[in-house]
Amino acid sequence: MAEVKKIAVIAGDGIGPEVVAEAVKVLKKTEELFGYKFELEYGLFGGIAIDEKGTPLPQETLEMCQRADAVLLGAVGGPKWDNNPKELRPETGLLGIRKALGLFSNIRPAVVFDCLKDASTLKPEVLEGTDLIVVRELTGGIYFGEKFRREGANGQEAVDTCVYNVQEVERIVRQAFEIAQKRSKRLASVDKANVLETSRLWRETVNRIAPEYPDVELEHVLVDNCAMQLLRRPSSFDVIVTENMFGDILSDEAAMLTGSIGMLSSASLGEGSFGLYEPVHGSAPDIAGQGIANPIATILSVALMFQLTFGYAEAGQVIENAVKSVLDAGHRTGDIAVDKSKAIGTKEMGDLIVAAMSR
Ligand code: IPM
Ligand code: MG
Repeated sequence: MAEVKKIAVIAGDGIGPEVVAEAVKVLKKTEELFGYKFELEYGLFGGIAIDEKGTPLPQETLEMCQRADAVLLGAVGGPKWDNNPKELRPETGLLGIRKALGLFSNIRPAVVFDCLKDASTLKPEVLEGTDLIVVRELTGGIYFGEKFRREGANGQEAVDTCVYNVQEVERIVRQAFEIAQKRSKRLASVDKANVLETSRLWRETVNRIAPEYPDVELEHVLVDNCAMQLLRRPSSFDVIVTENMFGDILSDEAAMLTGSIGMLSSASLGEGSFGLYEPVHGSAPDIAGQGIANPIATILSVALMFQLTFGYAEAGQVIENAVKSVLDAGHRTGDIAVDKSKAIGTKEMGDLIVAAMSR
């Protein structure tokens, strides 16, 4: 009998519950196909937790995640909470859960599916062969440095501090080198070392540990140049490692290479095998409740969970193949459909993928 794996499920806000429901169907189908056993526990998080519990990250949700082997997250946020004070914003819960669970590494693959090349705003020949991963530092930098307001000579001033220590840089960079070793052995370290002190420390640290990975070809790319090169020569990148805010921005850019942010999965990892898996896209309040959101990013996040946390490589592959075959057969949700009148809904897409799963 397979060992029971505990998965904490936090659907969140907007389209979160809709896309997570489809990912859960995929989990169930994997139990059937492979004899795996998953114990799902559901918790409140984000805007819905603010409404029901008065905080975006209730203690019981955090404890549920700490008890679990992995977390499946939908999306959080929405206009309803946008003007709330900081402690009562869904995003604060997201940053809090990353920090509390020690998830310092965020892995965002951007793979261009051949059959979707037309959905991208870039020319197909530029996209050809694009298959990269952004490894983003997730619990440091300007996101977590001291922030405050003060009265200055010219009125109110706001301060956000960006802090990195060597250990924080080392652990994420090592992880990126290790990922690169398992792929095509190219690593681009992205910084702003011509201006920022944190970036100079970043670059020094990368250079110091690089000799330990002689098989990986390393390039340093300034963040502004990287933003440009991602549009000019996306297929030349393999693994990109960068600090928190640069990673936030570049991973959205990389996402759009694929045609739709609705396709991209992500993993947030710490030191062990535990991980939090979520689609890169947000809660899309404009289409929430309509049953038209693309569930593929969340479904692919389950595949990533199997590969990175559970070591269920074959099951991960079965999911990826199923997604690919459904897309190859021409089925599209609205975000990736060229002919919007033929678009299918969230549930239909989920059902088609489940039906296509086989060993
Ligand atoms: C992301 C999001 C978050 C971030 C927001 C919602 C706080 O943009 O996961 O990329 O900036 O990290
Ligand atoms: Mg972002």
